[in-house]
Amino acid sequence: MKRKVIFDTDPGIDDSMAMLLAHASSEIELMGITTVFGNATIENATRNALYLKQRFGLTADVAMGADTPLVVAAGEPTTFVHGLNGLGDIDIPAGEYHGIDKRAAHDYIIDSVKAHPGEITLIAVGRLTNLALAVEKDPSIAGLVKEVIVMGGAFGHNGHTGNVTPFAEANIIGDPHAADRVMTADWPVTVVGLDVTQQTVMTGEYIDRLRLDSARYGEFIYRITRFYADFHQREMGMEGFYVHDSSAIVYAIAPELFDVKVGAIRVITEGPAIGHTLLKEGGKRYPIDEWSRKPKQRVCVQVDHQGVLDLYMATMVEKATV
Ligand code: BDR
Ligand code: CA
Repeated sequence: MKRKVIFDTDPGIDDSMAMLLAHASSEIELMGITTVFGNATIENATRNALYLKQRFGLTADVAMGADTPLVVAAGEPTTFVHGLNGLGDIDIPAGEYHGIDKRAAHDYIIDSVKAHPGEITLIAVGRLTNLALAVEKDPSIAGLVKEVIVMGGAFGHNGHTGNVTPFAEANIIGDPHAADRVMTADWPVTVVGLDVTQQTVMTGEYIDRLRLDSARYGEFIYRITRFYADFHQREMGMEGFYVHDSSAIVYAIAPELFDVKVGAIRVITEGPAIGHTLLKEGGKRYPIDEWSRKPKQRVCVQVDHQGVLDLYMATMVEKATV
């Protein structure tokens, strides 16, 4: 049976690549897309989701979510990574994009989870504000969600500790209070953080092959990723770019490509280490322990990066020939 997925996202270049992977995969039923501020303003992120829905014939609902974090001040959209329009500044035809669900994203999540108890996987690849609002408004959904898969955070594996500060990743520092609520809620969370997403790189050669072989998606992905590839080249001297958000979708399809560690997770919500994610492994007892009563979650620490690249390519090419 296909995995029912609600994809919570701030499209976003790699978000769009991940959304199309979920759409193309025969293992996933993409039921809903909920948007959040981050890579783009909430208006642009939502417009981009609706544009992708229309352009590629997605049947998923689209519901608009939060435009600001729970507690900290909202940062500027990361247009230097994703372009002014959030899609690498490709031309998006002007006009109205219809088909928005009238509910706020967190209400859409609550209603959907309750309508399909035990069946829905929430895959969140942006700030965790919508998920935090949902579980705060109706804590009963925690027991009804099949799994929460989060792209965010960094736990120091493979030398990856942060990409905004030395110890914080963008999605987590963008709303650290929401992230801490999501990590400590009583639902099963798997984190796909920089520890693994920065182990997988799509090179220029890889994207050229995708462009040639995926008649349906290749040209679009080539176009939106020019801006993203320039950012990686300029800022990090890379030939190619990291595979952040698509890694979360790959985890949902093929978890065997990842090794995980288990333990409670907390997020630092103030001070110089704000946005830092910390996993406590093992059962050692301490006089003071803000982890001990929290649910045990899972953090991906190793990845078969070639397996991720092969799965992405195979999925996007296969669909094109149908
Ligand atoms: C995350 O930040 C955003 O730029 C990407 O879309 C991804 O979700 C990586 O830190
Ligand atoms: Ca994202």
